[in-house]
Amino acid sequence: MEEKVFAMPRIGEKAPEFKAITTQGEINFPSDYKGSWVILFSHPADFTPVCTSEFMTFATLESKFNEANCKLVGLSVDGLYSHIAWLRTIKEKIEYKGMKNVEVTFPLIEDITMNVAQKYGMMMPGESDTKAVRAVFIIDPKGIIRTILYYPISTGRNFDELYRILIALQTADEFGVATPADWRPGDEVIVPTAGSCGVAKKRMESKDEDIKCYDWFFCTKKLEKETIFKKILKK
Ligand code: BEZ
Repeated sequence: MEEKVFAMPRIGEKAPEFKAITTQGEINFPSDYKGSWVILFSHPADFTPVCTSEFMTFATLESKFNEANCKLVGLSVDGLYSHIAWLRTIKEKIEYKGMKNVEVTFPLIEDITMNVAQKYGMMMPGESDTKAVRAVFIIDPKGIIRTILYYPISTGRNFDELYRILIALQTADEFGVATPADWRPGDEVIVPTAGSCGVAKKRMESKDEDIKCYDWFFCTKKLEKETIFKKILKK
């Protein structure tokens, strides 16, 4: 049989459009989310342990993501009734790491046809023919894909890192800076690289104590955590 080939979405491209049934009703993606950041993420299967730990964690952190103008949308190739039963089980029966009575109120897409999973390159046959891998798409308020992460089925995601990336992207957009390795809000940020010999010289000779240059192409400046959050957190 001929193998089907699906395009993988890429960073900087428009998020592929779809209409889907979810545990919160029908959604039109990404148009329903215009003006918000969205984290669209897939998980391999309902009623499985790693996925359960992830959903409980994401649901517990949802308000923190919402405050940063970010909505969550989950997906698996299971059906709607399986999703509903699994989310009810999580709320009624599972206590994990101090989390209990956890209600998942963000939409969980049913994707039995794999329509969405295939559009977003969430199916990786080398890992599984029937389950999506743990893909994460961070999409900006204009519907542009800004980050893509893939984790294998056996590895639960790091939610601190997802939040850190979201805040780093918003910081880059709002303040016109980049963020260095292991950056966390409050750490120094990177100013745009000098685009001319004149700017490079000026930077290296600058007495501005807020700017630190390791060399002409690598300069950082202070950006307080409070300044960032004041700008990006919803009131
Ligand atoms: C899990 O999330 O634990 C899981 C998912 C798919 C297969 C096996 C385990």
